[in-house]
Amino acid sequence: MTASGHPTDGADGPDGLPTDGAGGPGGLDGLLGIANGMWAAQTLTAALDLGVFSALAATDGLTAAEAAGLLGIPARPAEVLLTACAALGLLTGVDGRYRNTAAAGQYLVRGGPDYLGDYITMLRDHTTPGWLRVTEALRSDTPSRWKPEQQDRIFDAENRTTAFWDGLYPLSVLTGRALAAAVDLGGSTRLLDVGGGGGGFDIEFCRRHPQLRATVYDLPFVCAYAEKRIAAAGLAERIGTHPGDFFEEPELPGGHDAILLSLILHDWDEPRNRALLAKCHRALPAGGLLVISELLVDDAKTGPLDAALMSMNMVVGTWGRNYTAAEYGEWLRDAGFSDIRTVPFTAPGANGAVIARKA
Ligand SMILES: C[S@@+](CC[C@H](N)C(=O)[O-])C[C@H]1O[C@@H](n2cnc3c(N)ncnc32)[C@H](O)[C@@H]1O
Repeated sequence: MTASGHPTDGADGPDGLPTDGAGGPGGLDGLLGIANGMWAAQTLTAALDLGVFSALAATDGLTAAEAAGLLGIPARPAEVLLTACAALGLLTGVDGRYRNTAAAGQYLVRGGPDYLGDYITMLRDHTTPGWLRVTEALRSDTPSRWKPEQQDRIFDAENRTTAFWDGLYPLSVLTGRALAAAVDLGGSTRLLDVGGGGGGFDIEFCRRHPQLRATVYDLPFVCAYAEKRIAAAGLAERIGTHPGDFFEEPELPGGHDAILLSLILHDWDEPRNRALLAKCHRALPAGGLLVISELLVDDAKTGPLDAALMSMNMVVGTWGRNYTAAEYGEWLRDAGFSDIRTVPFTAPGANGAVIARKA
């Protein structure tokens, strides 16, 4: 496995188990690391719940006993938790005092501009219950997170509470910032963000390009949520919302020369995606730009790991999967787009954008 989480050559070790990629004795460790991966995730989530990183940020390091007092938990679990966080690389421990690493300080301290804690707790609360029944989802080709007796659709106000969009928002902002740096919208004047969620991408694009205005097009209850985020960012004059349903409505809102689809197509199957891309094509003027931002699976369908596991997450929660750039390219060509190319970039919620123009 590489540091980015991408699989390496897939060679087997002498015991027939996956190696660490260098042919070293990582096979059994690697396998057990996969088997108990939930332990690491839940250690991080518990540390967030208890406010470990926020408590440490306000100090010059704490002993386990001091942390126990501040966190309000007994000494034994406090020491165990801090040891585990240090072993996971989230804390340093020098001379018996624990401190946040740089990444923990940036992403795990509540109130910071890049705080990811809401995303991490959303994974626990929203996605993990479905993951515990992932085999069922694979057998039935039906999302295990979906409750058909309560929901007629996978995106509804009752079962996806604002905690889902609260969780997604910091990921959108970080990904939107990277996408805006990788894909130049300097020549566009109006962006339509189809399924734009909380508007994080629009906020980042508009911050970068003073000429740009944007519209978040999403279900009515999500637009109401986005309006609060947009107002808090001070961009209500430039970013509007358009409540609607991109499957039910025959056409997308017009008057935009660029369209963004971020983490939309991985929710749906090929026929629905092809229909949506055809709507995007009809909604754009000649020369209009379409941007698909996703964790793209490589064309050989062997990874990368983050895209492959997000695709599993789509089997758990949606009717889609993560697709390859080649699959998107074929659908885009069939929908009438040209100048199709892939722009790779690095971000938590995407590894590339497939962009295309309407001739
Ligand atoms: C995975 S989220 C992605 C949100 C955002 N684009 C991002 O990357 O953070 C999918 C979004 O599609 C929206 N959506 C799902 N079905 C929709 C529909 N039929 N019409 C409009 N929006 C829809 C959801 O409400 C949600 O905000």
